[in-house]
Amino acid sequence: MAISIKKFEEQGGRIKTDDIDFESFRSAPLSKDVLRCIAYMHDIEYQTVLYTREMLVTPGWKDPQFTAFLTLWNYEEYWHGNALGRILEAHDEPAHDPRLKAMRVFNKRYLFWSPAMFWALGHGVRQFPALHMTWGAINEWTANAAYNRLAAIADNPVLSELLGRIMRQEGRHAAYYASYARDLLDGDRKAQKVTSWFLRHQWAPVGNGDVPKIETAFATAYLFGSGNGSELIDRVEDRIDALPGLRGLNLVRSAILESRDLVVAQEGSLPVPVSVAAAEQRAHDLTAEPVGGATEEPAHQPSY
Ligand SMILES: [Fe+2]
Ligand SMILES: [Fe+2]
Repeated sequence: MAISIKKFEEQGGRIKTDDIDFESFRSAPLSKDVLRCIAYMHDIEYQTVLYTREMLVTPGWKDPQFTAFLTLWNYEEYWHGNALGRILEAHDEPAHDPRLKAMRVFNKRYLFWSPAMFWALGHGVRQFPALHMTWGAINEWTANAAYNRLAAIADNPVLSELLGRIMRQEGRHAAYYASYARDLLDGDRKAQKVTSWFLRHQWAPVGNGDVPKIETAFATAYLFGSGNGSELIDRVEDRIDALPGLRGLNLVRSAILESRDLVVAQEGSLPVPVSVAAAEQRAHDLTAEPVGGATEEPAHQPSY
């Protein structure tokens, strides 16, 4: 049963940031790779309004529950973008309108045509609601995993607090999309087939087309290409597999491999997050310790 909009509106709203010390980043700046991921996330959060523009030309506009969801969801995503922009500003990086204006110029051809494309899809494909609800669930699940991973990599208490708050809202978004998708896919073989086909042929990590492809690829590969990033993605894949008729798509794992290849091809290498490099070094040190004679001697005793 899809979650009622009443429940959704009661728990949501503008993310609380008045107690977040954005100025602390001036004395404890984030690494350039973490900041690059934050810039990408800032862009796609703010870009939600343009996706809303596309959704409103599909027949979904007739459903007041759906338009209420779009309104509330879009408002929350706006404030995610705004909060991330304040982190960029604290690092003297471009944020908010100048970045968004540049994005809309970068992507102006697609943005000119996209409402027409969505109008045609929405009116020509009867199963379109099942597709976009599933698509939304996947993107919210991956957003949640991305913030989770970014907080772990950056290891900064101010950032972790902010991202924790954003993640709680992403979790609500995912739950709403997924419950709707489950309702529409359940028992409808045609909806399952159409959704599966579009996902296999068209799905890419959120941001593809909105920002330069290399920025989406960098964030995808950097966050999920190592350490427990891949475990977070296993959980996302399990959730997709559990949707009716969508088992075995392997969408996100394939996208991570493609992203890694693209970053290596264009930039020469993919940086490994410091926390992952440290964990791997510890694992290497452990395996390098002598293991023989463990029953007679303390295992931690080094043998020179
Ligand atoms: Fe968001
Ligand atoms: Fe979201």
